[in-house]
Amino acid sequence: MKLCVELAPHNQRGLHLQNPVMAASGTVGYGTEYAKVVDIERLGAIVCKGTTLSPRQGNPQPRLAETASGLLNSVGLQNIGIEALIKEKAPIWAAWRVPVIVNIAGKSIEEYAELSRRLEGVAGVSGIEVNVSCPNVAQGGMDFGQSPQAAAKVTSAVKSETTLPVIVKLTPNVADIAQIALAVAEAGADALSLINTVVGLAIDIAGRRPFLGGISGGLSGPAIKPIALYMVYRVYQAVNIPIIGCGGICCGDDALEFIMAGATAVQIGTANLVNPNAPLEVLEGIERFMEREGMEDIAELVGVAKAP
Ligand SMILES: Cc1cc2nc3c(=O)[nH]c(=O)nc-3n(C[C@H](O)[C@H](O)[C@H](O)COP(=O)(O)O)c2cc1C
Repeated sequence: MKLCVELAPHNQRGLHLQNPVMAASGTVGYGTEYAKVVDIERLGAIVCKGTTLSPRQGNPQPRLAETASGLLNSVGLQNIGIEALIKEKAPIWAAWRVPVIVNIAGKSIEEYAELSRRLEGVAGVSGIEVNVSCPNVAQGGMDFGQSPQAAAKVTSAVKSETTLPVIVKLTPNVADIAQIALAVAEAGADALSLINTVVGLAIDIAGRRPFLGGISGGLSGPAIKPIALYMVYRVYQAVNIPIIGCGGICCGDDALEFIMAGATAVQIGTANLVNPNAPLEVLEGIERFMEREGMEDIAELVGVAKAP
């Protein structure tokens, strides 16, 4: 059974995954703690926490609120910064077989470019995921992902500084995600990942104020799966670069829905916080389905769910 996928077919280095199941940014840290509880070498890839030029403390507490079938977070890109990532984390990743992709976030186009420049040639880094979709920071983040022109500019700036495969991560908080996807693809992105979280709010009724320290938050988990699935379906019709589907995936059948809608690979986020083995269970679910259906190659399933 062939499960391997190529996420950057037009990039010289390529981004080859042994299977299509990845761990999503922000839900497995830098993978080092996660590696103590899960056999990470069985995963397709790991995406690390969103990384900025300087270390960030993140937003005030509380940062998490459970919702019906979902999670609202306003972590606010707490991270160790690019320098510590290169010095302390990349050498650990270099010894792993599983590819690690670094998720980057900037306050300006120049910051995205600088982050990419710093990652060039760093052993242990297999790709860059450009986060133009974080709803939990005051500056930058989602702003870049809400305009086709700005998203394209960030993409070109990153591409001009790196030979690494570049995945651009899109926000669902837009009128038409296909327009943004098209602009980013034309600007040279190797692949797209979608979706990041959906902006939401929780109210503390006893305190009569917003519950989260960051006021609004990003909704994730099963609550957003139909939204994400529709967006993958839409974007698949608009672009011809690989799509990584993400949003509420908890089991093999969820992942299969995304693949049939047009995703070449999938990312598992919130489910990791409930069950760290979720990505491996997703993978096993896909394998069982393919066995049952007598399928040879996962590629046969990508985008098969077309409207009649
Ligand atoms: C606690 C938490 C932190 C996150 N941090 C990041 C981040 O740093 N960068 C990023 O691009 N996405 C981040 N995300 C978004 C996820 O990677 C994913 O796109 C989103 O949660 C939807 O997938 P899910 O429903 O499987 O969680 C975060 C999500 C959660 C729940």
